[in-house]
Amino acid sequence: SRYHALVPAAGSGSRFGAPSPKQYLQLDGKPLMWHTLATLAAVPAIERVALVISPGDEWFDSYHWDDIAKLEVHRVGGASRAESVQNGLAALAAADDDWVLVHDAARCCLSVAAVERLIATLADDPVGGLLALPVADTVKRANAEQRVSATVPRERLWLAQTPQMFRAGCLTEALARGPVDVITDEASAIEQLGLQPRLVEGEAQNFKVTWPRDLALAKALLATRRG
Ligand code: C5P
Repeated sequence: SRYHALVPAAGSGSRFGAPSPKQYLQLDGKPLMWHTLATLAAVPAIERVALVISPGDEWFDSYHWDDIAKLEVHRVGGASRAESVQNGLAALAAADDDWVLVHDAARCCLSVAAVERLIATLADDPVGGLLALPVADTVKRANAEQRVSATVPRERLWLAQTPQMFRAGCLTEALARGPVDVITDEASAIEQLGLQPRLVEGEAQNFKVTWPRDLALAKALLATRRG
C-alpha cells in the first residue's frame, strides 16, 4: 500500500486572535506548520505530503519550504475544514486504496513514532482509524448557567487527535455524503457510512495549538526533542 499525508491549513485561526493564521505563527524561527510538515515528511512510509492552503493565502510565499521533502502545495482551501480536505483529496488524486493520513496543520508537536504506530496498527485494517487519547479527567456536562448537570462516565471516552488514516476512495465517498459543515473530523464522516474507525493510542504532546498559551508549550516540547 501507499501512504500520503494531507494537511488542511486553510483556517483563519479566529480563536487565536493573532493577525496571521495560527499555522504561520513563529516557532523557532519557522512558521508553526513547518514543524508539522517536516515531521510527516520524515516518516519513511509516507510518499507525498499534500498541503492545502487558502486560495487567498498571503503568507505562504514569504517563507522557505524547500527543505521539506515530499511537499506539494495546493491552493484549494474551502470554507470548512471538511471542504478543505475534500478539495485536497481531489488535488491529490490518489488511487482508491491508497491510505491518506489527514493531519491538522496546528498539531505541530506530533512525533514520527506516533505516526509509525498508527500506520503499523492499521496497515491491514478494513476501515482505518485515528490517533486518540483516553480521557483521564472526570468529565462534567454543564447546563446553560455553567453549573454541573451531570457527571459523564469517562470509561471508554477518547479524545480524537490526528492523523486520521483512511483509504482515499472511502474518505472521498464519506465526505461527499455528509453535510460538510457539521463534520469536525474525518472519522465522523466515516462513521456516518456505518463503519467503525479504530482508536490508536496517541500522545499528549500531539495537542492542537488553539490558544496563545499553547505556543510556549509547543516551543518547549520541540526544544526537548532536539535535545
Ligand atoms: O480551526 P481548527 O483548529 O479546528 O482547524 C483545524 C485544522 O483545519 C487547521 O489546520 C486549519 O488550518 C484547518 N482548516 C482548513 N480549512 C478551513 C478551516 C480549518 O484547512 N476552512
